[in-house]
Amino acid sequence: MKITSICCIGAGYVGGPTMAIIAQKCPDIKVTVVDLNIERIAAWNDPDVNNIPIYEPGLSDLVAEARGRNLFFSTEVDKAIDESQMIFISVNTPTKTYGLGKGMAADLKYIELCARQIASVAKDNKIVVEKSTLPVRTAEAIKNILDNTGNGVQFQILSNPEFLAEGTAVQDLQNPDRVLIGGNNSPEGMEAINALVEIYANWVAKENILTTNLWSSELSKLTANAFLAQRVSSINAMSELCEKTGADVNEVAKAIGMDSRIGSKFLKASVGFGGSCFQKDILNLVYIAKSYGLNEVADYWEQVVIMNDHQKRRFANNIVQTLYNTVADKKITFLGWAFKKDTNDTRESAAINVADYLLFEQANIAVFDPKVRKKQIIADLSYLNEIDVNDFKKNIDAFEDPYEACKNAHAIAIMTEWDEFKSYDWKRIYDAMQKPAFIFDGRNILDAEKIKAIGFIFSAVGSSN
Ligand code: UDX
Ligand code: ADP
Repeated sequence: MKITSICCIGAGYVGGPTMAIIAQKCPDIKVTVVDLNIERIAAWNDPDVNNIPIYEPGLSDLVAEARGRNLFFSTEVDKAIDESQMIFISVNTPTKTYGLGKGMAADLKYIELCARQIASVAKDNKIVVEKSTLPVRTAEAIKNILDNTGNGVQFQILSNPEFLAEGTAVQDLQNPDRVLIGGNNSPEGMEAINALVEIYANWVAKENILTTNLWSSELSKLTANAFLAQRVSSINAMSELCEKTGADVNEVAKAIGMDSRIGSKFLKASVGFGGSCFQKDILNLVYIAKSYGLNEVADYWEQVVIMNDHQKRRFANNIVQTLYNTVADKKITFLGWAFKKDTNDTRESAAINVADYLLFEQANIAVFDPKVRKKQIIADLSYLNEIDVNDFKKNIDAFEDPYEACKNAHAIAIMTEWDEFKSYDWKRIYDAMQKPAFIFDGRNILDAEKIKAIGFIFSAVGSSN
């Protein structure tokens, strides 16, 4: 079966970039991305491509090339479903915040709504592709809904997890390590798998396109994220030991990373991992393991999240203790709010928790992030535990200029590894700060010796300097 029209439900960090690449690489396929969020779709359609709602290096060029040719953004979900042979589901699957599985299980209400909508609209056979990260066996739930509420048409369900990382989405999509496609091994299932293989084969070598059964594909995504997050928690655990013993975590990471069995990636000690996937997927894995009575498996993986929470708390505590055990009414400047560089995404960013702890200690927080605005920062803090953001709004401010943000600060905390921070005029920043002036480098990006030579009292995660 040759696919000529596809749609994607969900115009977010996954759906948007993925569909932009498919549209670019497959000019013969009409790609429509739909979302209920009118504002978001309007931003995707903004004549100035610099205003698209997601910041990713290279993405606006892709959109400029394909939009209006074979890439369309729309709020007409039913129409797009009706007109497509293949439907990607790329809606959000946050951790449940209520009821059974609260704080652990994935909330599948958006997925279920999509499945019901597809079932009620479809008038001919469709291939439905899970693109969101989902708990194992979600495909089965989707299939049940489609088969039992539909108009008698046939649905094939595929799992095609996305492995792109934010900030490098375009290059990850252009050159994926592998593409994974799970499906049924019935003749119809194989036909659906092949149809999706043929799409990717337009730019990915066939040997890098793996096909598996549905459950292997679904579980591989959770496993990949759990392994990656585990590496970060492992190096962060060592960072605490390094600080106590006089070892330097960067040196340790380099030494172990040169062992080809270990490898050098994902060994950067930090204030803690963030992002929409790692914590959510691990908690989801923990929930699945517990639901099968596998308590040791669940506890093993849960420790990765516990370690991450500890790292964020420890970073905040270190600031308080170093500033003579009180930060009340002191200005502390956060450089960076996004969960990593080169993205405007702030979901689960370590900065949010650290700000929460410091606001609870009555600090004044000033934030500068090249891509995040104040409205988002306040929204992020509204979900937190320690504080009610309404009581603390006067204690948090965001700046458009880093030098303004740092003026009169007692301390600077580097929360995101934005490249531009490295080339700031640190002497100028130092001169405008309260003395003694402190820097807490949560990302290990500054040159300790140079910074100390200016006069700063400097500390970085994982070293005892
Ligand atoms: C992750 C996976 O990498 C990706 O394959 C999956 O599809 C979605 O989840 P993402 O969350 O976009 O991608 O970013 P990633 O680069 O994995 O970083 C996650 C967090 O870990 C960030 O906060 C990052 O700063 C942190 N991190 C990463 C470290 O602290 N140290 C490291 O060495 C690597
Ligand atoms: P991700 O990082 O997984 O892409 P996002 O939250 O950025 O997650 O994007 C998910 C998008 O899915 C949101 O823009 C949301 O409005 C959209 N969405 C959720 N449910 C539906 C639905 N039933 N129909 C259309 N769009 C939906």
